[in-house]
Order: sequence, then structure tokens, then C-alpha cells
Amino acid sequence: LAAARRQSVIWLSFQECTGCVESLTRSYAPTLESLIFDFISLDYQHTLQAAAGHQVEAARETAMKENWGKYLAVVDGSIPLKDGGVYSTVAGETNLDTLRHVAEGAAAIISVGTCAAYGGLPKAHPNPTGAAPVTDIIRDKPVINVPGCPPIPEVLAGVIANFLTLGRLPEMDALHRPLAFFGETVHERCYRRPFFRRDQFAKSFDDEGARNGWCLYELGCKGPETRNACATTKWNRGVSFPIESGHGCIGCSEPDFWDKGSFYAPL
Ligand code: SF4
Ligand code: SF4
Ligand code: F3S
Repeated sequence: LAAARRQSVIWLSFQECTGCVESLTRSYAPTLESLIFDFISLDYQHTLQAAAGHQVEAARETAMKENWGKYLAVVDGSIPLKDGGVYSTVAGETNLDTLRHVAEGAAAIISVGTCAAYGGLPKAHPNPTGAAPVTDIIRDKPVINVPGCPPIPEVLAGVIANFLTLGRLPEMDALHRPLAFFGETVHERCYRRPFFRRDQFAKSFDDEGARNGWCLYELGCKGPETRNACATTKWNRGVSFPIESGHGCIGCSEPDFWDKGSFYAPL
């Protein structure tokens, strides 16, 4: 991997909260610094770039021309379609036009986070901007979804590393997710599962069951229907994940998780 030519990456941020980028800065295997300085050429990224204004838009165009057909486009955030896409613009251009333009010369697209993968929070009812995911707009390029609100940083870094090493996207499921990380539900790997099997459920967040680490299913845990690697990869250098810190999974990597009813009502 270290000997590979540095891959041009153009990162587009649309209707997002920057939580996905914030998450990536916590990656430790590889670290964000190692990814940027050793493996990829991050040619456009709003939060991390030093340049601004016309200068940075020109740098994006140059990077696209020089790497036409070969660069990797990364998208975080959903794309507003209503009223011609006027609800989110950068440098006077709608996100919709920017995405179509950048996608044209991309080798592949990585949709980072539930917003880019499925519409996410901006698409939550009543979806005032007509927010849509990348796959609703780009159909002639390989697109991989790395959902999560935010996604696990090592999963995103792993997908990029896979592309750098093999020159293609990893194997995916029907929702364009990498099977290696989304092949199982959180529930299938959850360390509280023995309690689930024995019908030992916490009834409130401060009862005896909760203190004993019992299953959080009756407190609304969505782990049984949520595909993600949280229970094995975990977060913050493998320290913990939501269920280990005492809160049920809210299904943040699944489509339309905001609109599926209460986070605290059992499935
Ligand atoms: Fe923010 Fe979540 Fe959307 Fe990422 S997926 S931009 S963390 S709201
Ligand atoms: Fe399944 Fe959630 Fe219970 Fe874990 S806490 S065993 S994911 S229902
Ligand atoms: Fe999200 Fe559930 Fe993991 S809420 S962070 S998919 S445990």
C-alpha cells in the first residue's frame, strides 16, 4: 500500500453537519494524518483545506482535469432536489450540479454517512428541501455507501484503503454497503446477547437490570435490525460503542431511522 501512487480524492460536503468528517479525524488504523500524507492526495475538502474561495474551486477543477476518470469522489451530506436544488449551494453552484459534474470524471464514489447514503436527517419528514441520497442521482458510476450517523471512521478508512490496494470497491450488499462491515446486525455480535436469550431485560436506564448489564431491547434498542460493525470494531480506538455505554442502538446506519418512531419504544 505504501508504494501505491497517491490517489486523488475530491470530497464534497453537501447538506451535512460535519459529524462525519469529525468522526474520520478520530480514525486510528490508519490515522487521518497517515491517510492524507502517505496514501491519498486530498485535493478538495471544505473542513480540512487551508485555501478558500475561488482558489479552492480552481484547485478542484485542476485536480479533476489531471486525474479525469481516476479520482475518487467522496460525498458527505444529502443533496436537495426541490426547486432546482436551490437550498444548498457552494460557490454559486447547487450541490446537484456539483455532484453531477464531479461524478462524471470519478472512478467511483463513496457516500459517507447516513445523509449521503440514504438522505439522513435532512430527509426526515417533512423533508423540506427534497433531500436525496447520492444513489438516487448517480446511476452510471460505482457507488458505495458507508452509512452511520456518523459512520465508524475505521470502516471509511478501510473502504478507502481497499480501493487504494485493489483499485476497486469492496463487495457490497443490495444497499451498496461493504459486506465486510455491514454483513451482520449489531445484535448478532452484541456482548449483551446472552441476556437477550435468557429474557433478562433492563426495564429502565437505572434499574437493577441496567446496572447488571442486561439487554436493552425493551428500552428501544434497534440492534436486531441494524447492520453495522459497532459491536466488533467499536469506537474511539476500540474502547466502546453505544450499547456498552448503556444506551440502546438507535439504528443510525439504517435508511430513514429518524422517521421509524421512537428511539425508546421496543421494536
Ligand atoms: Fe451529520 Fe449524521 Fe449526516 Fe454525518 S450522517 S452529516 S453525522 S447528520
Ligand atoms: Fe440485541 Fe440490543 Fe440486546 Fe444487544 S442490547 S442483545 S443489540 S437487543
Ligand atoms: Fe449507530 Fe447503533 Fe452503532 S446507533 S453507532 S449503529 S450501535
